[in-house]
Amino acid sequence: MSGPDARHLVLVGMMGVGKSTVGRAVAAQLHRPLFDSDEMIEERVGRTVREIWLDQGEPAFRALETDVLREAIEQEEPSVIAAAGGVVLSEANRAILTSSDAHVVWLRADVDVLVDRVRSGPHRPLLDDDPAGALRRLHDEREPLYQEVADAIVSVDNRTVNDVTKAVLRCCA
Ligand code: S3P
Repeated sequence: MSGPDARHLVLVGMMGVGKSTVGRAVAAQLHRPLFDSDEMIEERVGRTVREIWLDQGEPAFRALETDVLREAIEQEEPSVIAAAGGVVLSEANRAILTSSDAHVVWLRADVDVLVDRVRSGPHRPLLDDDPAGALRRLHDEREPLYQEVADAIVSVDNRTVNDVTKAVLRCCA
């Protein structure tokens, strides 16, 4: 790929920050395909995130996460990639993100905002017990990792999806 318009745009950030929703809106505005790493995994394996997580364990899920991140980044056509919250945990994934010419945007929320609005759900087994505690712990652990891979940071606090979408488009223009 060459030139700024040809760069993939990758959204990273905590569970529930709005990566998939904002990703859809940004992809529509840019007329690009959207890759959502959780959906790619589910399509590839034919099982849900929860099924993989519970039957095969988190390490198996994380290995798939690396496979689909690499696959999305290697596509020629510039896309928008909504990368699941845990994508930054692995050094290999962080290297994929920083060594590619993808534009990585960290959607950042104050942890209290996340605690208020993020719920467990079919694809979030990490939040099954004590969601508030888990979110606070993961937020603290991951902030430096999101920072490490981010080319830009967009705060979602007190902003509508539309405002966040515009901010993402502005910072990648
Ligand atoms: C995870 C985030 C989830 C999903 C899985 C693990 C994480 O995706 O991949 O539950 O470790 O943060 P979202 O960020 O899309 O919720």
